[in-house]
Amino acid sequence: MDFPSFYLDHLAGGRLIIGLIASLHVLINHPLAVGAYPLLTWMEWWAHKNNRPDVDHLAYRITFVVFIVTTTVGAMTGVGIWLSTSLFAPFAIGSLLRVFFWGWFLEWLVFISEVALILWWFLSWKKADKPEKKRKHIKIGVALSIMSWLTMALIVAVLGFMMKPGEWNQTRAFWDAMTNPLYLPQLGFRTFFAVMTGAVFLWFSSFFFTKKKGALNPDPRRLREWIIYRLSHVVLISLLGTYAFGTWYWNAVPETMKANSSVALLTQEFMSWHRQFQTLLGWTLIAFLMVGVGGLDRSSMIPRWALLIPTVLSIWLIGHFERAREFMRKPWVIGEYMYSNGVHKDELAFLQSEGLLKHATYVKHREITESNKVECGQDIFMLACSRCHSTTGLNGVIEKLTAMYGPDKPWDSAGMQLFIKGMHQTRTFMPPFPGTDAEAGALVAYLQQLRTHPQTLPGAQSAGIVIAPEALKPSKIADSQPTL
Ligand code: HEC
Repeated sequence: MDFPSFYLDHLAGGRLIIGLIASLHVLINHPLAVGAYPLLTWMEWWAHKNNRPDVDHLAYRITFVVFIVTTTVGAMTGVGIWLSTSLFAPFAIGSLLRVFFWGWFLEWLVFISEVALILWWFLSWKKADKPEKKRKHIKIGVALSIMSWLTMALIVAVLGFMMKPGEWNQTRAFWDAMTNPLYLPQLGFRTFFAVMTGAVFLWFSSFFFTKKKGALNPDPRRLREWIIYRLSHVVLISLLGTYAFGTWYWNAVPETMKANSSVALLTQEFMSWHRQFQTLLGWTLIAFLMVGVGGLDRSSMIPRWALLIPTVLSIWLIGHFERAREFMRKPWVIGEYMYSNGVHKDELAFLQSEGLLKHATYVKHREITESNKVECGQDIFMLACSRCHSTTGLNGVIEKLTAMYGPDKPWDSAGMQLFIKGMHQTRTFMPPFPGTDAEAGALVAYLQQLRTHPQTLPGAQSAGIVIAPEALKPSKIADSQPTL
């Protein structure tokens, strides 16, 4: 309401972009940064302790790949999350920043240290040629591993908070936000998952780096057996952790959902996601289990392609997991505090009696008349619906209405208005309509017009902004002027 709406009509408004960037970020961050760095540090340490230059060299070569990917796509998608969420949901990211300011500030320091440590660790590897230098070098790897985990540990607090802020909703205290009820199970789940997938990544990439004999790799088969045997233990142990924390996490979520909703539909919707996720988790764990157990037998060489099965399943699992996590949070962007369209829970009743247009900054009109009805409806759509729906594109509102009211009959405006006023009761993933009856009527007029004249809705980035006249009332401007 207080920000112009950035909006891309054909991409479900733009939230798809957040989803794509964030998922890619997680897919790189978890296995490579959080999972692989500690494992590579451990390889370096083991090689040093047991005088195995071949293991050291292998760790170095894999680190090169991890170094390139994490410092380019990994870091850039991290920044991309800030960019896309600030564009698309500035109200939400603004609120989160106010709550988590010091947490995020710390995260920024940790992130900067992480990047510096990655550069230092990788670029000084070859220079650490004496035992005392090597010991120091291993310590850089340990520091890097801790920092990589810490960035995730800090961000997971924000993710858990968005679904269930817990005590914070009463106390508004920073530490209550950080230690929200979903924090520990989610952190444990992500940590073990990262190590498990990181181990499979190392295992997979070692196939490529242990092919040829060389001065630093005199016995490729011995080296490959070494890494497979060790990593299979890592996979099996982290599998147990992933399963245990995953179960704890998923048992923690339904309680809150059940408590939040008395409507069967949400539970049904949720149950189907829940079941799908459990099935997927089950198959993924079985695939990792088979690979892990297979690797325990040094002589059996699991073929390279077999590792792709748990890899693909885990990519799918984490994608589905993030999607389910985002879906279940609806209609909230911050649980029990702010709806996905930026309306605060506490201001809802006020807006419903006073009107949304009166209190939004970037709208064309304050009062609805017969002649401006459709324009008002368009602004209301932008404010109340556009964070989740497009007009005629992905998750398009016209497509949804056509499914409800039929493609060839005229749609009953009074019925539509009634639906909109009560949509949160039958479809609990949608927030309550944050406006008056007249505003619901204007929205219906816009939707009817959109049906007969499908038209792309431009966002503020291309249409420009209009500030409603009353918002510039002299008295208001005077109020905001500093007194001289
Ligand atoms: C928090 C996100 C969100 C907001 C905000 C939102 N919706 Fe929805 N809406 C959804 C989702 C998700 C669905 C279900 C999509 C599906 O699975 O088909 C849906 C479905 C619908 C349907 C079809 C309902 C049915 O029973 O099939 C209509 C109509 C609809 N929305 C209209 C609106 C209108 C009008 C607004 C704005 C006043 C709005 N929505 C705001 C998320 C939202």
